[in-house]
Amino acid sequence: MPDQYAVIGNPVAHSKSPQIHAAFARQTGQDLMYGQLLAPAGAFAATASAFRAGGGRGLNVTLPFKLDAFGYATLLSERAHAARAVNTLKFNEGVIFGDNTDGAGLVYDLLHNLGCALTGRRILLLGAGGAARGVIEPLLQQRPAQFVLANRTSDKARRLAQDFRGAFEAGTYAALAGRQFDLVINATSASLAGALPPLPPGVYASGAMAYDMMYGKGETPFLAFSRRNGAALLADGLGMLVEQAAESFFIWRGLRPDTAPVLQRLRQTQDT
Ligand code: ATR
Repeated sequence: MPDQYAVIGNPVAHSKSPQIHAAFARQTGQDLMYGQLLAPAGAFAATASAFRAGGGRGLNVTLPFKLDAFGYATLLSERAHAARAVNTLKFNEGVIFGDNTDGAGLVYDLLHNLGCALTGRRILLLGAGGAARGVIEPLLQQRPAQFVLANRTSDKARRLAQDFRGAFEAGTYAALAGRQFDLVINATSASLAGALPPLPPGVYASGAMAYDMMYGKGETPFLAFSRRNGAALLADGLGMLVEQAAESFFIWRGLRPDTAPVLQRLRQTQDT
């Protein structure tokens, strides 16, 4: 029987992970099956354990279970530890290895797909929830000249910053007035409610990129705002999605798929 993997979440039917991993498996000739697991609220561990008991080799973890998966793992990577969230589980003998590939996926997308340098640049990260937490450490590792985190609730931003070894500024949107950045990354959930983070105008330096970790059909509200307010380059989170999947695939199978054709195909189906 092929090795079994799945994405676990609630809801999970919308997930593109099965399509992405099936493409990776075809491309690399790996004999595996990748499905979907809907876990009832409060039943993450029971659902994951049943999958594991049935011979499952690994899981991708999506909302709202990344914190549950963090608690479920018996061995954590350093980046999962820093993120306090797990999006990839690997089952090996008695060990449940938990990793977080979200930040690496974002950094890979920025550097290799979008040609956006990070070292020595001024980076602004919007939001202080789980999505932001997961990408801070890998971004700091790129040694930006400035790294600033802004959040609607400033206390939450400051508390989050205290959890990281690398020091960075964390504060309000109002404190950004008059400052400029080369890269602004939206890790808020504002667009789920059709809202925008209250970014002051003029925050984009000449040639700057706006990156929205969300994606969907058409331009996100954040990218539309950024286009009107001076961002020269725009990117949504579809590249990050494919790259974090490639990192997970590497953890499980020991080889890195070529992501370009998979990303291109997803874009085509998304735009139609
Ligand atoms: P996730 O784990 O997906 O990041 P979360 O923990 O609920 O979700 O965090 C959501 C983030 O989006 C928070 O930073 C939140 O700001 P607050 O901490 O001030 O609540 C931010 N957010 C949500 N709606 C927003 C809006 N309309 N404007 C600005 N920020 C918003």
